[in-house]
Amino acid sequence: MTDKSTLTLGEKTVDFAVRHGTIGPDVIDIGALYKNTGAFTYDPGFTSTASCESKITYIDGDIGMLLHRGYPIEQLAEQGDFLETCYLLLYGELPTAAQKKDFDNRVTRHTMVHEQMTKFFTGFRRDAHPMAVMVGTVGAMAAFYHDSTDIADPHQRMVASMRLIAKMPTIAAMTYKYHVGQPFVYPKNDLDYAANFLRMCFAVPCEEYQVNPVLARAMDRIFILHADHEQNASTSTVRLAGSSGANPFACIAAGIACLWGPAHGGANEACLNMLEEIGTPDRIPEYIAKAKDKNDPFRLMGFGHRVYKNYDPRAKIMQKTMYEVLEATGHADDPLMQVALELEKHALSDDYFIEKKLYPNVDFYSGITLRALGFPTTMFTVLFALARTVGWIAQWKEMVEDPQQRIGRPRQLYTGAEKRDYVDISGR
Ligand code: SDX
Repeated sequence: MTDKSTLTLGEKTVDFAVRHGTIGPDVIDIGALYKNTGAFTYDPGFTSTASCESKITYIDGDIGMLLHRGYPIEQLAEQGDFLETCYLLLYGELPTAAQKKDFDNRVTRHTMVHEQMTKFFTGFRRDAHPMAVMVGTVGAMAAFYHDSTDIADPHQRMVASMRLIAKMPTIAAMTYKYHVGQPFVYPKNDLDYAANFLRMCFAVPCEEYQVNPVLARAMDRIFILHADHEQNASTSTVRLAGSSGANPFACIAAGIACLWGPAHGGANEACLNMLEEIGTPDRIPEYIAKAKDKNDPFRLMGFGHRVYKNYDPRAKIMQKTMYEVLEATGHADDPLMQVALELEKHALSDDYFIEKKLYPNVDFYSGITLRALGFPTTMFTVLFALARTVGWIAQWKEMVEDPQQRIGRPRQLYTGAEKRDYVDISGR
């Protein structure tokens, strides 16, 4: 195991330290590269670049392994609940019974939002995309919770973290209710996190709402599957925003904005729209051909991943959850499920997908499941953002508490015009 790497650039030969993680690839510390060689590295998609040191989540893309603080996602999803995963991500260890009870209690008692926030929603059009409302509303939390925006104060960091984890379901439910023109439903402290969220989304004043425990358990498991995922695009956005000292509400709003993209968290919405466009299994070959056609921008949504070059372990659990939810909601014969299963079978046996190691990712089966739970397609990425908030917060907290932390400020390869003098408009 080597501890240094040597680079020769022109006349210069420079050594760089090699650092070893607990598991996973080594890193070459190139912090002094520019100082010692006058050159930058160039890696626009960060395919070979580690942006930070972290102890939170580890992915082995070759074998399809996902660990949160060392615990496999399969075990957390099957044996624990979402708030236990939240505690683990934030504090690094699974909680004792007493710690779990206290954490659940603290989250439960922060689920209400400032009543004035209800007025904030009325500024949006009812047909606004729910993610546009989420970006605006979560960013606006800094205008309501001034007493937890000083990131230098550990107590305020903790309060902001708990507020975000606790209030995201309430804000997401309010976003949905506003979208469908129904009155907001307040949280109830005698319900657990996922059940409370389902009730805030689907209860109406005219009748009692009974939470289906099978659906609540499925919702909770879906939250676990989306909780954190190393330095993905939205988490990197949160870290970069936080590196300037921006308040946590602004950083999480930045993460929501980035997650919205169809290449990232927006893929669950795009994937269901794609399955509906395909419509029937007999049209699958046509779409597989489109996905393989270099001249066609179409991609199979819910397929492929920057890190996973094997099956996304979350997709397997999501597929199992899909079956449970479809059964429990009487949609076991959902035709889109047949299209998805057939599409997966076709893709996984096609040389193009095999060669490029493209497998279903977390977004492939989530759309069918969320639609069966009663959510419109436009709410799918909102649910992803709700669950990922704890991952963003845990990563933001790790960065803020890292003594090595500095503002993120990448450099560039400049290929623009050389220095030239201004020409008056009369001379152009
Ligand atoms: C998430 O980073 C994370 O961890 C994200 C996430 C998380 O939990 O935070 O896991 C959540 O965002 C999951 C990914 C959801 N996105 C999609 O399902 C959208 C469809 N997938 C892709 O657009 C793509 O696979 C990405 C964006 C996910 C990954 O893109 P990369 O790593 O930049 O890969 P690439 O675009 O360089 O593709 C490599 C090759 C290319 O062909 P060549 O140029 O080498 O010939 O594979 C092809 C691509 O054209 N390819 C696909 C494809 N994905 C990649 N071809 C058809 N369909 C696809 N879905």
